[in-house]
Amino acid sequence: MNVAAAYPETAKPGANMVVEDRERHLFRVARRAFTDPTVLEEERRQIFDRCWLYLGHGSEIANNCDFVTRTVGGRELIFNRDRGGAVHAFLNTCPHRGATVVRESKGNALSFRCFYHGWSFNVNGRFASRFDEGNYGKDHYEGGCADLQQVARLENYRDFWFVNFDANAVSLADYLAGAKDFIDMVADQAEAGMEVIGGGQQYIIKANWKLLAENSVDAFHGFPTHST
Ligand code: FES
Repeated sequence: MNVAAAYPETAKPGANMVVEDRERHLFRVARRAFTDPTVLEEERRQIFDRCWLYLGHGSEIANNCDFVTRTVGGRELIFNRDRGGAVHAFLNTCPHRGATVVRESKGNALSFRCFYHGWSFNVNGRFASRFDEGNYGKDHYEGGCADLQQVARLENYRDFWFVNFDANAVSLADYLAGAKDFIDMVADQAEAGMEVIGGGQQYIIKANWKLLAENSVDAFHGFPTHST
């Protein structure tokens, strides 16, 4: 088979991306599946805007007013616990003119303040600046239009917190289905419960998410690449 001909550059995302020949144990994926921005954009709309996505573990925000910031499904998010201990997920985007509100990766704060024009928000997301006669007039701020925007859905299983950008998505419990058994295996390893500690690993790759996933399950590269 002429593989090059099977991956015409003008094809729509998803078209002719995969060539599979089970008889020959042949499975090939077009390289642009890993690099073409239009493919990633389509994946964001079809997959990441609809599926439950892991945000973080409750132990990462153990205390009231703890927060971490994270990019999930292409969106910058604040994962935090408010003064009463309730867990939230907000878009880390100022409702005023779209600046990033929280610029630290983690911390503990009684409020968030956007550096651009100084709007402040309580850690429950409510607009907290006192602009009674402010730039837009008192009524402008009524109705929550100046609050941080909550992610459409936020649910947890065993203190593993997930977000969904689709308000009409099925429940997290239904979505996880049998995968809950594997989360149970992880969460039940110690009677004291589990805690996420330490830092994280960050990857920078000139490709979209699939290349990292592909590399992570590629056991064949272990000996030659990781000789230590
Ligand atoms: S963009 Fe945040 S206060 Fe203006």
